[in-house]
Amino acid sequence: MRSKSLALIAASTGLALAMTACGANTSTGGDTTTDTNTDSASGGGTKVGVILPETKSSARWEGFDKPLLEKALKAEGLDPDIQNAQGDVQKFSTLADGMINAGVKVLIIATPNSEVGASVAQKAKSSGIPVIDYDRLNLGGSSDYYVSFDNEKVGELQGQGLVQGLEKLAPGKKPAEVIEIEGAPTDNNATLFHNGQKKVLEPKYGAGDYKLVQSQAIPDWDNQQGGVTFEQILTGNGQKVDGVVAANDGLAGAVITVLKKYGLNGKVPVTGQDATPEGLQAVLRGDQFMTVFKPIDAEANATAKLAAALAKGDKAGADALATGSVEDTKGSRTVKSVLLEAQLITKENVKTVVDAGFVKASEVCVTDLAATCTELGIK
Ligand code: GAL
Repeated sequence: MRSKSLALIAASTGLALAMTACGANTSTGGDTTTDTNTDSASGGGTKVGVILPETKSSARWEGFDKPLLEKALKAEGLDPDIQNAQGDVQKFSTLADGMINAGVKVLIIATPNSEVGASVAQKAKSSGIPVIDYDRLNLGGSSDYYVSFDNEKVGELQGQGLVQGLEKLAPGKKPAEVIEIEGAPTDNNATLFHNGQKKVLEPKYGAGDYKLVQSQAIPDWDNQQGGVTFEQILTGNGQKVDGVVAANDGLAGAVITVLKKYGLNGKVPVTGQDATPEGLQAVLRGDQFMTVFKPIDAEANATAKLAAALAKGDKAGADALATGSVEDTKGSRTVKSVLLEAQLITKENVKTVVDAGFVKASEVCVTDLAATCTELGIK
């Protein structure tokens, strides 16, 4: 599905520059005009459009992606218009039409599904506007570039996290009974996460060490639906489960709410991803065994640098940044990519995420976790 080339250099450059941008004054020097719609030749105020997919699936989109993309794009002297389609495909298409008609120089899209992504990219490119698939690859699309994490590797980290959790919380249990609550079937990332999990877990299922009770994908990553589905599977299995794969922190939270009902929270390892404040709190409480930290500032910064090059028509510069590539099997094409690395987070290294400035200690060390944070040096 993807070549192995990973843009680690872009990641470290991106992360280093993003950290600078976070602290830097992003004003453009003496320019005091407040009208950000000017499209000056210097690239200052060059409009770029960003459309995010939804809010319900994960706190990341409005909590991290939007502010970090805004900061990174402005640091490149661009004028971002960032909208969220709220999971509505028609709204996504309408927002894109508006941005194309407004003459954005680059369109950056993270879509609810590949179909709308492919259709929007086609419209943009027929207007001469380059398109970046942000975080999610649109299968069968025509985007010029893709910026994301190595999402199969993210799934492997989730699989490894479950193995570590079962070794700790259900040592010797054979077979350990596992329920998998996966992401939206319309999101190519969900497929990649599951592929990565399977690399780790299928040998365990095959050897009889683990038994897969059921694996269920949740439309739109809908957290509430995820909780209802998980409870149905759990009660259908006689309220027995030893470990749960939850594909992101939002679904993990819904699973934990159900486990609490049956007195199982903290006894059953649950995976996640996104290192959201709620997810990190659950990890510190022991209700969630792990999450995956995806430095979204690096993803936003890499996207902004790519957009800046494209806005200036510097295709060679853009290609020099996109040193990775992925295969779009549906569209039978290779897409130039920036693929960033992610990190497995358990209780022992939550501090890493706070020290990276990704979340504040105040967002994680809430009242009942004050002592735990002190003990772990999180401040
Ligand atoms: C995926 C994204 C993950 C997860 C999920 C739910 O595409 O890569 O970080 O948050 O969406 O929004």
